[in-house]
Amino acid sequence: MSTFSAPKGIPEYYPSDGGSSSAGFVHVRDTLSAAAERAGYGYIELPVFEDTGLYARGVGESTDVVSKEMYTFADRGERSVTLRPEGTAGVVRAVIEHHLDKQGLPVKLRYAGPFFRYERPQAGRYRQLQQVGIEAIGADDPALDAEAIAIADEGFRALGLRGYRLELTSLGDAASRPAYRALLQDFLAGLDLDEATRARAEINPLRVLDDKRPEVRTLMLDAPLLLDHLSPEAQAHHEAVLGHLDDLGVAYTINPRMVRGLDYYTKTTFEFVHDGLGAQSGIGGGGRYDGLMATLGGPQLSGVGFGIGVDRTLLACAAEGLQPWSAARVEVFCVPLGDEARRRLVTVAGALRAAGVRVDLAYGGRGLKGAMKSADRSGARYALVLGERDMESGTVGVKDLASGDQRSVPLESVVTELASLLA
Ligand code: HAM
Repeated sequence: MSTFSAPKGIPEYYPSDGGSSSAGFVHVRDTLSAAAERAGYGYIELPVFEDTGLYARGVGESTDVVSKEMYTFADRGERSVTLRPEGTAGVVRAVIEHHLDKQGLPVKLRYAGPFFRYERPQAGRYRQLQQVGIEAIGADDPALDAEAIAIADEGFRALGLRGYRLELTSLGDAASRPAYRALLQDFLAGLDLDEATRARAEINPLRVLDDKRPEVRTLMLDAPLLLDHLSPEAQAHHEAVLGHLDDLGVAYTINPRMVRGLDYYTKTTFEFVHDGLGAQSGIGGGGRYDGLMATLGGPQLSGVGFGIGVDRTLLACAAEGLQPWSAARVEVFCVPLGDEARRRLVTVAGALRAAGVRVDLAYGGRGLKGAMKSADRSGARYALVLGERDMESGTVGVKDLASGDQRSVPLESVVTELASLLA
């Protein structure tokens, strides 16, 4: 009979060593999320699919994400819905819908979960990708841009990562853009570009700056850069962000050619890049999106945030040989020898769990050898071995699985003793 496989391009995490380790995945996700929680970002649980129009309007029709990569389908009520390709549009929609901006500004939210992009799968590029993200809405304060960046940086550092860098630029504001756009379009008009690139330049000339083809890159060497044409206000904002990052001790390099794959960015825009990951080196990215609230029908409020790729951050940990998590499923493993011993150890396991200790038991009536193998595999620090003779003397064997030492402990005090040993 044929069996099923997970859809192509979707990483799975399960109890195991190595790259699919669910313990590693959870540790990375929770460490990144905890950094945001410490800065006062409340948790928001978003829908996994939304009205297709939200992403078309919010992320931008001309982006690859919207035009090529969305999982869009009609539901049974003939509504066009799309699996969320990113989190910012959904958060902004929720802030508008639930009037979260009425409870004091900025509204600070964090989220975590899967996102979906129909990309060509390769190492580090998936069709179901996991992000931890934050959004801060309603304060056009450069200190808030710096805070967002510092939270991401702190999350990576807390994992022990060192081999990454932060690239940063400003994409200007509504006052900077039109003049620069015209300048860039003039420049592009003077180049010998193919039809497709020319068409792309018509829709969004900034995209050409990001063209990876060497011949286009060479042509673009002298292109005007937005960073040199910021409005005085955007320039001041940019300098203030850099000042805060210096104060916070967050290192950065300015990359004036950075082009993000989403259209909503204004002013501060950044990416964290890891050098050990090959082509898919972006472990996180974000920036300011001062027009998005209004574009989606809400009040004129600014916003700033980031999305960090959990899958790629886990790959980055592997690339640096880091494993700051424990793969141990439990702390104690119970090995009963016989039916009466099982009855007693089932009770002990229950009492240990109630005392906060993680415990498993050898089920299925296996012999001592098989049960001890399970104990080792579980990652437990201690095995509780209970046989006939132990029961007669009212004790249980407590075996330290690392050293192999075993001693007898009275059954009635084993719960308190283990709970304090493991506290
Ligand atoms: P993004 O740069 O499209 O930004 O995605 C953020 C991160 O998600 C990337 O840096 C990368 O680590 C990860 N990622 C994206 N696509 C894939 C993929 N196909 N496979 C694996 N990982 C991937 C956003 O999504 C914005 N919403 C971030 C943001 C929040 N900007 C402002 N607020």
